[in-house]
Amino acid sequence: MQKLLIKGKRELNGSISISGSKNATLPILAASILANEIKLTNVPLVKDIFTMLELLEFIGIKAKIKKREKTIELKNKKKNINTLAPYKLVKTMRAGVLVLGPLLTKYKKAKVSLPGGCAIGTRPVDLHLLALKKLGAKIKIKNGYIIAEAKRGLMGTKIKFPSISVGATENAILAAFGASGKTILTNCAVEPEILDLIDFLKKLGCKILISKRKIIIQGKKNEVKNIKHRIIFDRIEAGTYLIAGALAGKKILIKNINPKLIKYELKILKSMGIKMKISKTWICIYKSKLYKKINLSTSPYPGFPTDLQAQLMVLMTQAKGSSKIKENIFENRFMHVPELRRMGARIEIKNKIAQVFGPTKLIGAEVMATDLRASVSLVLAGLIAENRTILNRIYHLDRGYEQLEEKLKKCKAEIKRV
Ligand code: UD1
Repeated sequence: MQKLLIKGKRELNGSISISGSKNATLPILAASILANEIKLTNVPLVKDIFTMLELLEFIGIKAKIKKREKTIELKNKKKNINTLAPYKLVKTMRAGVLVLGPLLTKYKKAKVSLPGGCAIGTRPVDLHLLALKKLGAKIKIKNGYIIAEAKRGLMGTKIKFPSISVGATENAILAAFGASGKTILTNCAVEPEILDLIDFLKKLGCKILISKRKIIIQGKKNEVKNIKHRIIFDRIEAGTYLIAGALAGKKILIKNINPKLIKYELKILKSMGIKMKISKTWICIYKSKLYKKINLSTSPYPGFPTDLQAQLMVLMTQAKGSSKIKENIFENRFMHVPELRRMGARIEIKNKIAQVFGPTKLIGAEVMATDLRASVSLVLAGLIAENRTILNRIYHLDRGYEQLEEKLKKCKAEIKRV
């Protein structure tokens, strides 16, 4: 099994180009079921994207990847469409459940494996199903599968989500695309990745309006050919490298981003005393001499993302005093804490709150991670730790970080895969 070896205490200097967003690409790939021919550019070539493509191939969508150009062309030839998403493909990547809405709305039936729990929490799909039922689907759960049917097609309606979910909002929008009449969704997630999906669906000819947490979709029947869409930047990858720069960067330039979409993250970094220069498409970040403590909670966009909680916690280990971070989205998302403790971090957990005491000297150790963002937080810790850090189970990293070692090595980090 592959590992990463990181020699810490190297001063980082250089520039990092941010890839396209994995979490924007996944629902847009699922939306290719609704389209005819599409071309996506700025696609991050990470494991989750390949898993989704495998699922789409299984369904009958032809995909052509051009690795160097980072483009994917998809064709729905409409022949031999399989409305099934099997367990083996959905269990490794929960976003597989996003094909449910498009399959059901277009082909009036779908059988999609229940994704099950994962390391960071139970992660049910009840909100996805609630929305589809309201749109008129008959749904039953049998042998671990969601079996959905809408013999006469889905019908536009009003749906108020009882709580905010990114995936359920996406599935509902995708299903409403092919429903007859108007669908009004309220209490929606409004992450930039959802706005990217909406932009894509608009190119397919769908009328969609968004205001605050309300999304209005006018069902679409005619198909538009040959859509081209550029995926937005990965704001979580950008945030991860901004934190790397704040921890270890003499000077790091983070390129190909839109700082307006990460306003809250930048506010937090600034209030911790991090110095940066911000332009329209890049941010230059510098290592600090002294980091200030901070208290914050994760929350849906525009709040602080749960996907950056583990990385920010590493920065908190270097801040003077006691910082607190409350995890409001997932119930089991402190799996990186025992590993960070093994590297010398002083962190206490009480229910949803982690209290971090700093500054502490981190020392390299052999560590392992249980999910994508926990893994990358250990890479960040390794960058500032004394001696060598060995990171096991790096397949988690490969699910969502494109060319992580290459990007860090370009900034003079000593990191290698063995
Ligand atoms: C997406 C992101 C993930 C991110 C998360 C929160 C993708 C592919 N993944 O995941 O990286 O961490 O948003 O920003 O975009 N919930 C229910 N019932 C449901 C659905 C969700 O109770 O039917 C709960 C979840 O357990 C969780 C919360 O709602 O506690 C938010 O989850 P959700 O926003 O749905 O996350 P995902 O879409 O799975």
